[in-house]
Amino acid sequence: PGEPAGPGDLSGKHVVVSAGGTREPIDPVRFIGNRSSGRQGVALAAAAADRGAHVTLVAANVEDSVLDAAGAGPGGGRDAASAAGPGRAGGVTVVHVGSTAELADAVHAAAATADVVVMAAAVADFRPENTPDAKIKKVPGEAPAPIRLVENPDILAGLARERRRAGQVVVGFAAETGDAAGGVLEHGRQKARRKGADLLAVNAVGAGLGFGTASNEVTVLDGAGEVVARAAGSKRAVADAVWDAVVKVWS
Ligand code: CTP
Ligand code: CA
Repeated sequence: PGEPAGPGDLSGKHVVVSAGGTREPIDPVRFIGNRSSGRQGVALAAAAADRGAHVTLVAANVEDSVLDAAGAGPGGGRDAASAAGPGRAGGVTVVHVGSTAELADAVHAAAATADVVVMAAAVADFRPENTPDAKIKKVPGEAPAPIRLVENPDILAGLARERRRAGQVVVGFAAETGDAAGGVLEHGRQKARRKGADLLAVNAVGAGLGFGTASNEVTVLDGAGEVVARAAGSKRAVADAVWDAVVKVWS
């Protein structure tokens, strides 16, 4: 106990992982959200800690049971290891957030000292333009006022542009389904080139894969859209494949 279970190749590194799905308030009691459970991000955080990293897990609406499952929850003991300070075996510090604005603030703050930032969170692309302080009331028989949406900033693209520290590796995740415009890999390639991240882990969703499920199938692309790794199996196996790819960027 207390010894890293992994190869220790992230020892001394500070890694930031975002997980879960952001919620955009409509009014004080309602939100626009998504179905991300946070399991992949939590698996990434646990795997990094086992490989010796100090992990900041920015958790957007991740259930405690999901955090606990990877030993990153309040009862998992990793917070205590992290609190013991630098030089120790890895640990996970959880920062809880709700909206995309909160997620962006927490990720940017942690990125200032990070060697790696992995954006595994499902970030809302849009948010309501206005959020009234009072609950929106129904008027019987009348259609509600439309909710106008505005675009959220692209946190991943911003991190890739800024590069807060020399050698900082920026990693994105993309859940894709094929469509008439192209297959999963083709969409992933275009996204990899567009985002400017070092790595993009492309996850085929639909047909029993991805959201809310225990296992995953991921292709890791570099910034040019070239395949650098493939992984299938548990979210933990995918997580370790992503960290392998990150370590390779440095070597
Ligand atoms: N992402 C982000 N900020 C946003 C939207 C997405 O940081 N406002 C990040 C996600 O965390 C993920 C990556 O970008 O790591 C890809 O997200 P995805 O939703 O697949 O890409 P989009 O550019 O939003 O494209 P689309 O939803 O149209 O497929
Ligand atoms: Ca999106």
